[in-house]
Amino acid sequence: MKKILFAASEGNPFIKTGGLADVVGALPKYLDKKKFDVRVILPKYLCIPDELRQEMSYVTEFYADMPRGKEYVGIYEAKAGGVQYYFIDNEYYFAGDRPYNKIYEDVDKFAFFSRAALASLPELGFCPDVIHCHDWQTALIPVFLDAFYREDEFLQGVKTVLTIHNLKFQGRWIIDDIVNCRDLPEKYRYGAMEAYHETNFLKAGIVYADRVTAVSETYAREIQGQQGGEGLDGVMREASYKLSGIVNGIDQEDYDPAADKYLAEHYDAKSIAKKKKNKAALQERMGLRVDDSCMLIGMVSRMTEQKGFDLINQVMEEMMNTMNVQFVALGTGENRYQDSFRYFDWKYPDRMSATIGYGEEMAHWIYGGADAFLMPSQFEPCGLSQLISMRYGTVPIVRETGGLVDTVEAYNEIWHTGTGFSFANYDAREMLKIIRYAYSVFSGQPREWKAMMKRCMEQDHSWKSSAKKYERLYQDMA
Ligand code: ADP
Ligand code: GLC
Repeated sequence: MKKILFAASEGNPFIKTGGLADVVGALPKYLDKKKFDVRVILPKYLCIPDELRQEMSYVTEFYADMPRGKEYVGIYEAKAGGVQYYFIDNEYYFAGDRPYNKIYEDVDKFAFFSRAALASLPELGFCPDVIHCHDWQTALIPVFLDAFYREDEFLQGVKTVLTIHNLKFQGRWIIDDIVNCRDLPEKYRYGAMEAYHETNFLKAGIVYADRVTAVSETYAREIQGQQGGEGLDGVMREASYKLSGIVNGIDQEDYDPAADKYLAEHYDAKSIAKKKKNKAALQERMGLRVDDSCMLIGMVSRMTEQKGFDLINQVMEEMMNTMNVQFVALGTGENRYQDSFRYFDWKYPDRMSATIGYGEEMAHWIYGGADAFLMPSQFEPCGLSQLISMRYGTVPIVRETGGLVDTVEAYNEIWHTGTGFSFANYDAREMLKIIRYAYSVFSGQPREWKAMMKRCMEQDHSWKSSAKKYERLYQDMA
C-alpha cells in the first residue's frame, strides 16, 4: 500500500475559489483504495463554512520550531467522500474572510502551512511515500524537505510531485521579507528560489520536486514556450525530463444531470428534450424572457483577463443586436469586468443576466439550463467548466488553448462529429464569427445541434483514466 498526501490551499467541499478545489476534492476519491492510502491536508481557514468546521474533530496540537519562535499548530480531521482530511489550525495565519488576500501575507502564510504540514506528519504517525503538492502555495514543500528533512529519521526519502494548475500565479515576493523562509540556507533563498530578483515559490518547487505535472498535455507543452511560459519557460524546459501533462476529470457524482439536486428537471443523454424545462426555469429565475427559440449562452467564471472577458466586452453589443441570443453570467473578479457586465445587464434586462457573486446552486442552474457555454480563454491550463457543461449537454464555445484543445472537439458539419465550437486566435472578431456559426446551427439545424448535445453528454470526462495516470506516476517514483 502506497501512502500519498495531497497538500493544497483549497479542496472541495471545504473551501473553493476555482478548479483547484474541484481537483483536490475529486482525484483522491478516484485513486484505487486497495493500492493507495490517500489523505489530504488543508489549512483550517476561518472562512470555511461553520457547518463544515463543525464536522472537524480535534486530533492534537504542538508547537513547531519556526523562524518566529515556537508556533502553535493544531491538527483537526474530517472525512469527505471516504477520504481522510487533515486541517492545520493557526488563526494568526488562517483568519480572514477568504483564503487568499495580499500576496505579501500569502507567501508567509503558505510557507507556514507547508512547514506545518511537514511537521505534523510525525505527530500523526503518517509518513507518505509521495507528497502531491499543488500550485505555488505548497510548492515549497519539496524545498523544505530538501533543506530540513534530508537526514530526518521519519521523513527522509519522501518523494514529491508538484502539479501546476496555473503557471501565472507563482508566489513572488522579496525574499528577505518572508519571515517563514528566513532560516532557509542561502543556497535556496538566493539559488533555486530566486527568479528575476524576487523569490518565486513555484519556480523553487519545479526545481526541487521529483516530478512535475501540468493539468493537460497541451498546457504542459505551452508552458515550455515563451508565450505560455510566464517567464519560466526556460525553467520548464530544463524540467522537461520530469514534466508530464495529465488532463483533469470531473466528479461525475457532483455533476450529474440525472440526479442534480439543484435542477428543475432531471435528464440524461436519452431524454435530452427534458433539458428545455431547465432552460425555462433558468430564464424565469434570472428575469429573462422565457423563450425557447433564442440561444441561451451561459458563463460561470472568475472574471479575469485569463478568461477572455476583454473579447466579450468588445463584441457584446454587436452580439446582442444581431442575433437572437440571451446571456446568463455568474462570476466575480476584476472590477472592470464586473462593471461592464452590470452595465449589459442593465441595458438588456430581458436578455442579459449578470450575477456578480459566487454560488454553487446558480452555477448548476446555468450548466443545466443554458444551450451553449462560452469560454474564450486567453490561456486555460485545463478548464473544468467546459467539461461540466458537456456533461449537461450544454455545448461549449471555446478558444483553442491549453486543456480546451484537449477536451473539446470542434464541430465538423461534413462528418457530423465534434462536441463544441472553437476558434484559434485571441481575437474578438474571430470569437464573434464562431458564435454566429454556433447560432446558425442552433437556429437553422436543430437536429444537428441535438446530436451534438448527445455527443457531449456521452463523452467520458470522469476521473477514471486520469486517476490511472496519477497512479502510474506514484508507482514509478516510490
Ligand atoms: P479556474 O480554476 O481557472 O477558475 P476551471 O474551469 O478549472 O477554472 O474551474 C472553475 C470552477 O469554479 C468550476 O467548477 C466552476 O463552475 C466554478 N466557478 C467559477 N466561478 C464560479 C462562481 N462565480 N460561482 C460558482 N462556481 C464558480
Ligand atoms: C486552474 C486553471 C484551470 C484548471 C484548474 C484545475 O485554476 O486556471 O484551467 O482547470 O486550475 O486544474
